[in-house]
Amino acid sequence: MIEVKEVTKIYKVGDDEVRALDGVSLKINDGEMVAIMGPSGSGKSTLMAILGCLDIPTSGEYYVDNIEAAKMNDNQLASLRAHKVGFVFQTFNLLPRTSALENVMLPLTYDGTKMRDCIERAEKALEVVGLKDRMKHHPNQLSGGQQQRVAIARALVNDPAILLADEPTGNLDSKTGAEIMALFQHLHSEKHQTVIYVTHDAFIARHTDRIIHLMDGKVVRDEQIKNPIKAGTPRPDEMLSNGNGNHAKE
Ligand SMILES: Nc1ncnc2c1ncn2[C@@H]1O[C@H](COP(=O)(O)OP(=O)(O)O)[C@@H](O)[C@H]1O
Ligand SMILES: [Mg+2]
Repeated sequence: MIEVKEVTKIYKVGDDEVRALDGVSLKINDGEMVAIMGPSGSGKSTLMAILGCLDIPTSGEYYVDNIEAAKMNDNQLASLRAHKVGFVFQTFNLLPRTSALENVMLPLTYDGTKMRDCIERAEKALEVVGLKDRMKHHPNQLSGGQQQRVAIARALVNDPAILLADEPTGNLDSKTGAEIMALFQHLHSEKHQTVIYVTHDAFIARHTDRIIHLMDGKVVRDEQIKNPIKAGTPRPDEMLSNGNGNHAKE
């Protein structure tokens, strides 16, 4: 379980202060599939960086399995990043002149896993995302959706309990986006991973069990979704923009 208590994050830019998070509290249980939704600038990425222990709050507390992140030593933090959480970004962040297989192996090579095991596990992760036949391709030889699937395989290779995805379909066309969403739904239902999925798109958000709405760094609504949309369902006409009435661009 992860728990955020009264977290604020203030960025200082020259003499200005930006309150990116302003007293956020929430709990997410193991195995939940949650969307974090809000317009551009509402603090979604800032919150994800804290959840992934890539950044620390200015004030407030963050607990992973009842251990406060701020009190973890370097070894605990490294182990958490390596084994507990997997991160998928909007821009795929793949190494360019490196094969899909090597990109996916990368997180394993840091912690002394034997080369043969690295290869085996990376191959398995690529198989899960449907790229068994593209392992030797470099990122520029893959489509956007395939590159994002490589990035998801890289996030999965350590078998993390928590998968954090920050607008993973933001740079993809809607058909490819639906395929990626189907993959996340599969990982959630078959492998019982906790999935936390950032989007500013109401239609995408409704593919999850719960939507946490952020606005100006605050949680303004925490909504349970009774019948999540199944990936591949066509977008209804009233949701043809981004569904929340504003055309936020990321
Ligand atoms: N490194 C930073 N330095 C200064 N301001 C930042 C930084 N990162 C984000 N911000 C500001 O914090 C607010 C929240 O940003 P962010 O979490 O990226 O929002 P979102 O992901 O919802 O678009 C925005 O106003 C943004 O300009
Ligand atoms: Mg963002």
